[in-house]
Amino acid sequence: MAAATEQLLLPQEQPRRRPPVWGLTVAALLLVLLLAATGPLRPRLFRAPPPAERVALTLLSGAKEKGAVCVDGTPPGYHLQRGSGDGADRWLVHLEGGGWCSTVKECSDSRLSTKGSSNFMKPIRFMGNGILGGDQLQNPDFYNWNKVYVRYCDGASFSGDAEAQAQDGTTLYFRGLRIYEAVIDELMEKGLTNATQALFTGCSAGALSMMLHCDDFRARFPQEVSVKCFADAGFFLDEKDISGKRSLWSLYGRVIHLQNVRKVLPKDCLANKEPTECFFPAELIKSIRTPMFILNPSYDSWQIRNVLVPDSSAPDKSWLSCKENIRNCNSTQVEVLDGLRNKMVNDLKVVEDKEDWGMFIDSCFTHCQSLSGVSWHSPTSPRLENKTIAEAVGDWHSGRSQGAKEIDCKYQCNPTCNSLPPPRDVTAFDHVEIY
Ligand SMILES: *[C@@H]1O[C@H](CO)[C@@H](O)[C@H](O)[C@H]1NC(C)=O
Ligand SMILES: *[C@@H]1O[C@H](CO)[C@@H](O)[C@H](O)[C@H]1NC(C)=O
Ligand SMILES: *[C@@H]1O[C@H](CO)[C@@H](O)[C@H](O)[C@H]1NC(C)=O
Repeated sequence: MAAATEQLLLPQEQPRRRPPVWGLTVAALLLVLLLAATGPLRPRLFRAPPPAERVALTLLSGAKEKGAVCVDGTPPGYHLQRGSGDGADRWLVHLEGGGWCSTVKECSDSRLSTKGSSNFMKPIRFMGNGILGGDQLQNPDFYNWNKVYVRYCDGASFSGDAEAQAQDGTTLYFRGLRIYEAVIDELMEKGLTNATQALFTGCSAGALSMMLHCDDFRARFPQEVSVKCFADAGFFLDEKDISGKRSLWSLYGRVIHLQNVRKVLPKDCLANKEPTECFFPAELIKSIRTPMFILNPSYDSWQIRNVLVPDSSAPDKSWLSCKENIRNCNSTQVEVLDGLRNKMVNDLKVVEDKEDWGMFIDSCFTHCQSLSGVSWHSPTSPRLENKTIAEAVGDWHSGRSQGAKEIDCKYQCNPTCNSLPPPRDVTAFDHVEIY
């Protein structure tokens, strides 16, 4: 606040150098700020953010010996923030997202970023007041839990197990499955083994990773421990793009082949389907027995941009502004987007029969919604049945209300979507401050 005031006051001290309009603008701005600071907007705009500590990066010990390494051979890492109070024995384990690498070239290039190397990872702060936030008002059910943010550096949703040779002759390591195993083992030794409650989560590709491992994670705890899974924006659809190509299906096929993704795929699915099909959540959820909550916008901005209308499918640029913001789409385009929603609603029908599962499928144009306070639990968050996402997930998790499975009506019927800022293609990076 102090710094902002100083900046605003500066122009006033040199009024003669500014055209009069400037002075007026500044005066108006000051007035608005003054009103906001004292008026009814005060709590929202000026509430001091809770102190967010830096959470150090912990590199997995013994990574090389276990062969549990990032694409470039460096040890993988995670950020662990200890819980307190009644959260001291409750654990939230979040798997980071960030797409997939599906060719030798892509995986090779991933070594130049956190996506394939821990050399680029730094301490983070659990900012944004989403599910990782430490403020009780904005994150009532999980604020004081142990929280782990597991970094993603294998390119195949923590599920591959292979090696390949890059063009320059160096080795590419595809050890996602070993990373998952070794990180969970190490967390167990750090207290996870004594958890009384555990929530296993992930966003985007991280949510798919979580789904692939959900039952395995559950199996590591005694029956009496409450273990649940929460997938944020990981319900990727096997949908054709507007030119008729199954582009995500092709991409998954390449990832599975290149990185030797096998062990994590459900056996009952593999018995009568291609591995590629078994990598899609529509198939995965049929086999998952652990209680799960599925959060996904039915107009998922990542899927609209990359699955339904990838650049290759609409070369004439007619879709660019619609993909940028759904408000720019005309009625014909909205009908096409409705097709994606219909597919999602249809694929989720099996969830209706799963008693202890929950769903929050809003009609907003966005992607991950649990990591940012704007969508998780704020006065302007998307709501279904008048509940924010934090309330719906919290009620499901704690058993306060049973089996809430909410599917929103079609775009544009939910006015609570309007307050969301235009989405970008996010992984968690946009919400977790990186130093
Ligand atoms: C788990 O709890 C037991 C009993 O309180 C304790 O002895 C043990 O050190 C704990 N394990 C970990 C990994 O914290
Ligand atoms: C919507 O936009 C697309 C692409 O520019 C165009 O082909 C279509 O005719 C438009 N439809 C309407 C109803 O304006
Ligand atoms: C919706 O919830 C808010 C706060 O959570 C409450 O103030 C409001 O009365 C509720 N509206 C309806 C229609 O139930």
